[in-house]
Amino acid sequence: MAGYTFSREPKTVALVETKYRKIATQIPATGTKEIIARLEKTESRSMQGQFPIIWDKAEDFSVYDIAGNKWIDFTSTIFVANIGHGNKRVSTAIKEVLDKPLVSTYAYMSEVRVKYLEKLIEFAGPPFGKAFLLSAGTEATEATLKLIRMYGQKIGKKRPGIVTLNGNWHGRTMGAQMMSSNTEQKAWIGYEDPNIHHIDFPYPWLVNEEQGEEFFNKQLEALKQRGLNLETDIAGFMLETFQGWGALFYPKSFVKAIRKYTEEKSILLAFDEMQAGFARTGKKFGFEHYEVSPDLFACGKGMGGGVSLSGVIGRSEIMDLPEVGNMSSTHSANPLVCAAGLAVLEEIESRNIVAETARKGKLLKNLLSDLLNKYPLILDKYYGEGLIASLIFKDYSKHAKSELASLVSEKCMQKGLLVVHTGRESIKLGPPLIITDEAMMEAVQIIDESINEIILHG
Ligand SMILES: Cc1ncc(COP(=O)(O)O)c(C=O)c1O
Repeated sequence: MAGYTFSREPKTVALVETKYRKIATQIPATGTKEIIARLEKTESRSMQGQFPIIWDKAEDFSVYDIAGNKWIDFTSTIFVANIGHGNKRVSTAIKEVLDKPLVSTYAYMSEVRVKYLEKLIEFAGPPFGKAFLLSAGTEATEATLKLIRMYGQKIGKKRPGIVTLNGNWHGRTMGAQMMSSNTEQKAWIGYEDPNIHHIDFPYPWLVNEEQGEEFFNKQLEALKQRGLNLETDIAGFMLETFQGWGALFYPKSFVKAIRKYTEEKSILLAFDEMQAGFARTGKKFGFEHYEVSPDLFACGKGMGGGVSLSGVIGRSEIMDLPEVGNMSSTHSANPLVCAAGLAVLEEIESRNIVAETARKGKLLKNLLSDLLNKYPLILDKYYGEGLIASLIFKDYSKHAKSELASLVSEKCMQKGLLVVHTGRESIKLGPPLIITDEAMMEAVQIIDESINEIILHG
């Protein structure tokens, strides 16, 4: 991540051996630096910046490196391993497809594709009637953008405008980045899409539950002030279910006001559920927290249990907007990812993962709340729902808050815990949803120790 570089030099650290962790060597382990150097010779530097650990094996909520050190994983490889790393049901399903063998089918049909889509639509429930499968999350957000625009054209909008939020993130391809508000990251495009409009995010420190609707109306007013004709120029809204870096959810009243508005104007509401979907927030899908139902939503990450599976799920009439053949991809819905996706849904249901995540989420909140009370000069807030949370740091002593968050991430790594390093003033916590209560308590204890050591050593 920009701004902070993790040292690759092996450092002698305290040895650790618990049921859930093992740090038995210097960290990074001997040999790590050399492997990273080889990787950097052949791979674009855009992939750099992560913890200096060479992953060798990952199982349930544990990650192992090449020296056999073992970490509690609070990243889920950025909210992919919801049902656990190396999930047996997923690997068995994949093996069956490989052994058949039926690995690739392009858009030609296979039975496993039928079974998966039936199960996916049943899992999503009404009003969602159809889905379109892809590989990467950014493709799913692009397909969502396309569907919103096609809908706008169909209902005769003069301009197929999409309203999205400042501070958002939808992926790294062109349409996804155009929907992003980060001008630096999308500078490579060279122009702004005149039909993508950003409104302000109702950050919890700015807007409370009572003010959500009023805040939304102000945003509409601001769009009008910018010359937008709200009647003819908007086809839909695209919302990340929560803002990523801080696991920041909207006030319910804000989202409800958007849903009411989009229904009144017969335009679409879409969510980007990439991080929020498939039980992560203690609901099947994160938008359920707002008590609204969108017209369509993009998902990925946890959807495939580790294989590249993403998709758009929506009302049938929206999903059928493209003509036959006008929305497809070579690897879309291949048998391997369909088998994995089906196994993910079966695992979520058979292990009661949605309800269990909601329960574990309460425990995590209690643990983080204790941490906040213990370190009021260092920690500002925590946010989140279910098993996605952020800890927001303050400036402390000689450390700026983003540096402090990086230092804590690095210390956690040295002690056997992987957290999500955001490069900002937050760390993000998102363990596989099958983590045990005991391991979760141990993980928060490691964050506690890490903060404490930073205080002691200035
Ligand atoms: C909210 C959100 N949307 C879209 C994406 C893009 O997904 P992918 O990296 O699979 O293309 C991400 C990835 O982090 C995400 O968090």
